[in-house]
Amino acid sequence: MQSFKRNILITGGAGFIGSHVVRLFVNKYPDYQIINLDKLTYAGNLANLEDVEKSANYRFVKADICDIEAMRQLFAEYHVDGVIHLAAESHVDRSIKDPFTFAQTNVMGTLTLLQAAKEAWGESYEGKRFYHISTDEVYGTLEFDGTFFTETTKYDPHSPYSASKASSDHFVRAFHDTYGMPVVVTNCSNNYGPYQFPEKLIPLFINNIRNGKSLPVYGKGENVRDWLYVVDHARAIDLIFHEGKIAETYNIGGFNEWKNIDLIKVIIKTVDKLLGNPEGHSLGLITYVTDRAGHDLRYAIDSTKLKDELGWEPSLQFEEGIEKTVRWYLDNQGWMDRITSGEYENYYAEMYRNR
Ligand code: NAD
Ligand code: DAU
Repeated sequence: MQSFKRNILITGGAGFIGSHVVRLFVNKYPDYQIINLDKLTYAGNLANLEDVEKSANYRFVKADICDIEAMRQLFAEYHVDGVIHLAAESHVDRSIKDPFTFAQTNVMGTLTLLQAAKEAWGESYEGKRFYHISTDEVYGTLEFDGTFFTETTKYDPHSPYSASKASSDHFVRAFHDTYGMPVVVTNCSNNYGPYQFPEKLIPLFINNIRNGKSLPVYGKGENVRDWLYVVDHARAIDLIFHEGKIAETYNIGGFNEWKNIDLIKVIIKTVDKLLGNPEGHSLGLITYVTDRAGHDLRYAIDSTKLKDELGWEPSLQFEEGIEKTVRWYLDNQGWMDRITSGEYENYYAEMYRNR
């Protein structure tokens, strides 16, 4: 059996950001064994990883992070020495309808994983690391006053999603403070790019424009988000996993704030251009709908610490990133159509089982 320099457990690797992290690690570190642990909920899609699934250093394990026995077994079987934890329920609208699932996966799942790591690593934390991926939403909301979330901003979550992520962040830090576990936490802004589940604003709207369907803008479209290309987030995760200081928090963001309605107009313009439609063709699809309950007004991340201490900066300008993203969704309509038809959930899981 081949032995590897490191055995890295990446949770939620079949999801949007996780698949980019898995791809980066599998390709960049052939001497690491990358174990992708995913329950394959509605958001998990093995098609996101077709290009790396045959790599010699890649393993996929279908399991639930809430299952303590399965987690114990996994740590023992693969001699896991590093964890990059992304598995979560991630969509705010779903958390409003079903907060219990968010508490179960995001809070209890993270706690279960921490406990399994503690039991496996209890003798010595030497060479071990538990890296928890979190969100800027834990900090609450900002006014239109030019201020930013920093690593010392007080937690003030508003949605069941952000409350569950805030709770999981606290558990991770508690495992450092109480048991000495070597942890690191990052809080990132809105990601965009290929393989994002089309319930989220950008892929949903690209797909709706392609199909001539209405674009539901919440409230007046005046809420502001800070957008970061997902591959830049994956690069930051790689850097922080290897060089971030134990027990530290790093904010990751793009210094790239957009009011939703302005962003939506950029998406419309880009999709129309790439589809060969006249400029303004799809503007009429914009439909203002009832606002999201508890809709945070503005998020803006200050990622100066990450730049100053570890030298990370986003590599892509937004205009370039958004065009690349729109092009990817238009070039990969099969990927999108299998999701919107529901076919992907059984198709890829079955394909994997039969391999
Ligand atoms: P996603 O919803 O696309 O993927 C989540 C993955 O976790 C899926 O593959 C799903 O099957 C898996 N999963 C869910 N419950 C599980 C369980 N109980 N056991 C094992 N696997 C399970 O999410 P995403 O957008 O890629 O986000 C990944 C992480 O990054 C999350 O922790 C999220 O909070 C955080 N985050 C996301 C963003 C963003 O803009 N998307 C920004 C900042 C932070
Ligand atoms: O800030 C980081 C967070 O970004 C992550 O932690 C979450 O996992 C991720 O889902 C994302 O949360 P948002 O709620 O900001 O993303 P979403 O794509 O759902 O919405 C972006 C903005 O667009 C938000 O202000 C709500 C609005 N919106 C969204 C949808 C789906 C609409 O106006 N219409 C829509 O149909």
